[in-house]
Amino acid sequence: MNFELTDVQREIQRMTREFAARELTPNARRWDEHHEFPTQAVKQLAELGLMGVAVPESEGGAGLDNVCYAVAMEEISRGCASTGVIMSVNNSLYCDPVMKFGNEEQKREFLAPFARGEKLGCFGLTEPEAGSDAAAQKTTAVRKGDEYVINGSKNWITNGPKADAIVLFAMTDKARGNKGISAFLVPTNTPGFIRGEPDKKMGISAAHSCSMYFEDMRIPAKNLLGKEGDGFKIAMGTLDGGRIGIAAQALGIARAAFEEAVRYSGERQSFGKPIREHQAIQFMIADMATEIEAGRLLLWQAALLKDKGVRHSMESAMAKLYCSEMASRVANKALQVHGGMGYSKEMDVERHVRDARITEIYEGTSEIQRIVISANVLKG
Ligand code: CAA
Repeated sequence: MNFELTDVQREIQRMTREFAARELTPNARRWDEHHEFPTQAVKQLAELGLMGVAVPESEGGAGLDNVCYAVAMEEISRGCASTGVIMSVNNSLYCDPVMKFGNEEQKREFLAPFARGEKLGCFGLTEPEAGSDAAAQKTTAVRKGDEYVINGSKNWITNGPKADAIVLFAMTDKARGNKGISAFLVPTNTPGFIRGEPDKKMGISAAHSCSMYFEDMRIPAKNLLGKEGDGFKIAMGTLDGGRIGIAAQALGIARAAFEEAVRYSGERQSFGKPIREHQAIQFMIADMATEIEAGRLLLWQAALLKDKGVRHSMESAMAKLYCSEMASRVANKALQVHGGMGYSKEMDVERHVRDARITEIYEGTSEIQRIVISANVLKG
């Protein structure tokens, strides 16, 4: 067993850590406050090859592995959790299924420019009445000649307000339940595609999401991704990878909160000494450090399995469940270390508490992760 990163993985870690410290950390509070999409930073991510980390170079990506992706996602999210999720959605939820299920023609149009970061992708599964119960899709796609006509809506679509294309899920045969769902590649400038206003959220304020409406939206039949009826499995397999991205995002948020708490504990004095000399603070630091290490091991295990091409639904769910709940615990402890200042907008730690919370919800709530884990355990 080897817990060491390879030279390439270490280099990605060093490069993304430096980039985040230089370009993301100094701006993240302002982007959050003004709900400002980090346009320039996303452009820089693209230049660094971080918008298609595990996509082969021949298809526009960086040609790296999923451990590199996890390491990079942790560092980028340590700098700015919003930038982290913009990157994660483009990599895991958009590029990954196109890479796996797209044909050559689809990859040329819908993968390469997105993996290069020239265009931005998003993932349309969630609906007002199909969140955790992803199979309860109401959006329909009806084949008419050489086209599909799509009607319905999606909501909470991260990157939606800016996306150039969407991997969209819709019912092609309602009678077949989850086996009647299909996946489509849809450019967002298609007539009949309507975006709602950006959502107003508690955290990750610089990453924009919105609802989307499809009104008699016609797309060429050749934009079907995979086969008719494969959509649910494409969505679930994609989320296995997406959950690695969100686990890494949560880990990055936890690291940011922890490192700020450690620094502050050396500056703030109480009862005549720095607070880090009190055992109460030392115990909090010990718990935070241990949980961060544990989360990283679960994350790397899931990423390694994905690199091996092994089904990793349970390991991704474990990493996502643990890292997201851990990030909230760590961010709250870090806020406690800061005392009253932790509650102030003058410090970053209140943002980390808000940003951590969503990682327990999107790409499958903690309850859904527990369902996936227990189903895998119980089937033996
Ligand atoms: N990979 C491949 N196939 C899979 C799979 C996976 N990970 N998981 C399930 N399947 C297959 C099963 O094998 C089964 O196939 P067969 O019928 O041929 O045996 C089929 O799919 C149905 O599986 P289930 O019976 O387990 O399906 P279910 O309806 O009970 O649902 C669920 C399972 C785990 C609850 C699922 O609905 C789920 O994960 N829900 C959460 C959805 C989610 O994460 N949404 C997040 C939206 S994206 C987002 O948040 C994006 C953003 O903007 C950041």
